[in-house]
Formats: sequence, structure tokens, C-alpha cells
Amino acid sequence: MTIATPDPGLLFGPHIEPDELVPGMSAADSVAVARILETRLMDTLDLQLVLKHIHWNVVGPNFIAVHEMLDQHVDAVQELSDDLAERISAIGAVPNGNAGAIAAGRSTSDYVMGREDALVHLAALDAAYARVIVDHRQAIRFVADLDPVTEDLLVEHTRKLEALQWLIRSFLRNPASA
Ligand SMILES: [Fe+2]
Repeated sequence: MTIATPDPGLLFGPHIEPDELVPGMSAADSVAVARILETRLMDTLDLQLVLKHIHWNVVGPNFIAVHEMLDQHVDAVQELSDDLAERISAIGAVPNGNAGAIAAGRSTSDYVMGREDALVHLAALDAAYARVIVDHRQAIRFVADLDPVTEDLLVEHTRKLEALQWLIRSFLRNPASA
């Protein structure tokens, strides 16, 4: 027996097999949580691409500091994506991290700036982090009643995203200290 999802989504496969369910979670709740997790996966994967894009295109007096700092952000956000995809797998669904899924499922469009001064890029990156954090906080509220384990994961991720945003904002406030 398989359980159909309520409507098409980004996840691979339209169902979760009963023997793949986490003990104590229903199929319906698992699918609902997996779909929310997939949206967070799409946005963190997209954020990784934005971070690398800025890493390659940043110029100006702060070049090397920002260039090197951004690779640390890429690594940190990649860990978040990995956690999200593996949580989707753990609750019995199939994560989709393909480029087509990112383009279709992310909540933003392509980053528009090319070669640009570091502070201009970082202001845009501050806004990009803000969008992901707002959506993470909404996801926390959504999953709170369905799966406290996923809620805990998203709370921890939001704390990390807010710490990363703080690094960007600190740089913007006092570029000379970075
Ligand atoms: Fe590089």
C-alpha cells in the first residue's frame, strides 16, 4: 500500500511507503513536512549558488576579505542543505536537488548583479539571507504541530542563518574591521 500526496510537488516520487515512515508519524504528516523541507532545500541550494556567484564577481578594496569570507558561508549553507535533504530521506520521502527543481521551487529569481563592489553585493546578500530566514521561520510554525524533530532542525538552521547574516551585517556596518 502506498499513500498519494495531496498534490504534485517537487519531491521525487508521489508517495511514501509505509515501511519508510518514521515511527510515530503518519504518512500525511510526513508528506506535508517533506514538502516544507523541500522548499527550504530549494532556497538553501539557491543561496549557495548566490554566494558562489558573489565570490566570483566581487571587486573593490574589500575584495579578498569578502571573497574568502563567502566561501565559509558556502560551506555553512551547504551543511544546511545536506541536513534538509537527509531529513527528507529520513522521513521516507525522496529529496530533489536537481537544477531544474531549484529553478522551479526556489522562492526568488536569479541574482541580477555581476561584477560589483563588495559592499553593494553584501547589501544584496543581507536581503537574500533575510528572505531565507523569514521563510524558515514560517516553516517552523508550519511543522511545529506535525513533527517536533523537524521543527528542532529548522530552529537550529535559523539560528545558524541568523548568525551568518550577522556576519554580513557587521561587515556592512564597519567594513574597515573585516
Ligand atoms: Fe574560489
